[in-house]
Amino acid sequence: MIIAIDGPAASGKGTLAKRLAVHYGLPHLDTGLLYRAVARTLLDQGSPLDDEALAVKAAQSLDLGHLDESRLRGREMGEAASVVAAIPPVRAALVAWQRQFASRPEGAVLDGRDIGTVICPDATVKIFVTASAEERARRRHRELAGRGETTPYEEVLADIRKRDARDSGRTTAPLVAAHDARLLDTTNLGIEQAFQAAVAHVEAAR
Ligand code: C5P
Repeated sequence: MIIAIDGPAASGKGTLAKRLAVHYGLPHLDTGLLYRAVARTLLDQGSPLDDEALAVKAAQSLDLGHLDESRLRGREMGEAASVVAAIPPVRAALVAWQRQFASRPEGAVLDGRDIGTVICPDATVKIFVTASAEERARRRHRELAGRGETTPYEEVLADIRKRDARDSGRTTAPLVAAHDARLLDTTNLGIEQAFQAAVAHVEAAR
């Protein structure tokens, strides 16, 4: 069983994907980490994020099974990741590994922006998780505050809008729901309610 979860930044798709993976005993791949790792490599080298040749080289030489998650989290890395993710050959360099992860005999849960549309178009279950930009900004703002980062709410909202525009507006693998994805709007749902709705959908689809 392959479960494909897509959605915009701070929609709750990561939390949902993790919980579904535990619930069904499946391995989980957060594909955003791959683009974050490419961006991290360029920043560590002091290279510009839009240097296509260097970005592709970084994508091709990532040690994909051993990404250091602690260095990839954070607001700035998400923003930087969306810049390199708009470069088509960077995406191309990462497709095979994601598909291989999804082809494990037991199945897998993958979350990202293009799982249901590009990486696993034949996934057993596709869920597109959304929430209003304001609600996503509130969640992100709260999360940052919890980590001691005092970023004004308006700035977090502007960030989210900018990332939405970049992810939805790019030509290759833009952020869009697959035609056969189930939309899950979590604007007015708690984590538990969103999880129950997702499980109900998986059960109906498997
Ligand atoms: O999901 P996360 O916030 O970690 O993703 C960071 C960025 O990586 C996204 O804004 C998006 O531009 C890119 N991404 C992507 N395709 C994926 C996963 C992430 O383009 N499957």
